Amino acid sequence: MKVLHVVGARPNFMKIAPVMQEMMHHPTEFEQILVHTGQHYDTNMSQVFFDELELPRPDVNLEVGSGSHAVQTAQVMLRFEPVLLENRPDWVVVVGDVNSTLACTLVASKLGFKVAHVEAGLRSFDRTMPEEINRLVTDQLANLLFTPSQDGTENLLREGISADRIRFVGNVMIDTLVRLLPKAESRWPELRERFGLDRYVLVTLHRPSNVDDPSTLAEIMNGLAKISRQLQVVFPVHPRTLGRIAGLDLSLPADRLLLTEPLSYLDFLALQVHASLVVTDSGGVQEETTYLGVPCLTARPNTERPVTLTTGTNRLVATQALSAEATWALDNPLPKRPLPELWDGMTARRVVLALRSWQ
Ligand code: UD1
Repeated sequence: MKVLHVVGARPNFMKIAPVMQEMMHHPTEFEQILVHTGQHYDTNMSQVFFDELELPRPDVNLEVGSGSHAVQTAQVMLRFEPVLLENRPDWVVVVGDVNSTLACTLVASKLGFKVAHVEAGLRSFDRTMPEEINRLVTDQLANLLFTPSQDGTENLLREGISADRIRFVGNVMIDTLVRLLPKAESRWPELRERFGLDRYVLVTLHRPSNVDDPSTLAEIMNGLAKISRQLQVVFPVHPRTLGRIAGLDLSLPADRLLLTEPLSYLDFLALQVHASLVVTDSGGVQEETTYLGVPCLTARPNTERPVTLTTGTNRLVATQALSAEATWALDNPLPKRPLPELWDGMTARRVVLALRSWQ
């Protein structure tokens, strides 16, 4: 079976790695091709993840880079089509909800290639999020849909997708976390030293809804400055956010509110494990903190990952209430809860089994 995997942006890498590694265990059955669209291209947004996740070098890099949604999506489509026609895989595997996921699914479906979507069915029901549009379209078109949680399966069924196209397999990103947690832990002493850490709040924010509007971003940064009076704050900054913060006229307590370059997978995981609290708007971080049992505040009005609220450690908060919510969370430790179903480190095995047995 010839399988062409697509990755494009940072959150894709930890999802494709376990699937590729599982297929490598069956070398006589699978021929694998890895296509990187180049949506993310900075070393610390892309290459470092290939190294740490032990991903093979991409066979093809489409080098699309940044642009408006239309430009980026169109560029991926234009450049992906000839690659697909040249390689003619039995399956195209796409993951997550980024523009590259949508673009390659559209191209493959129209040319009649089978598409498997890993991390299907998640819905925020908020169509102002670009990722929600990407999820809706990708799931309508893909032939085989792998859901990380039962809510995902229910969403797909409600949208009229037939049950025989859906497999509930669990969360593939947790496979990577489970595999690399010991390695991440070994980074901790050096990180603690480097950033001078004791008790701290870890922050990651990059959603357009939080960082594109200067007054919202200023409100968030002031909230973080307030939190930093109580506990040190570490904020590895996504390039998108960095540009926006630079444009604000704020005086921030640089010694207590530490803004760093985006961190590698292992470093960020180690910082999550040891954080007293995480503040985020990322999808993956909501899931990782749930798995790790670390309290998480998500600065969004909704989430496509409700299982992190019901079973997990996540809470949605308004940006205006960030520091009050953080104080509350730090004073009220969470009770121990069970992990979401099938977040067990064996999702990729179930994905590959399903592909092998697909008729
Ligand atoms: C993308 C995904 C988002 C995911 C995020 C994780 C979409 C619609 N969004 O958002 O779901 O959570 O990745 O990081 O696909 N930039 C760089 N270097 C890079 C990449 C980006 O400097 O390597 C800067 C550019 O200024 C670019 C901006 O970041 O314009 C945004 O990048 P883009 O790929 O458009 O979306 P993200 O915000 O990264």
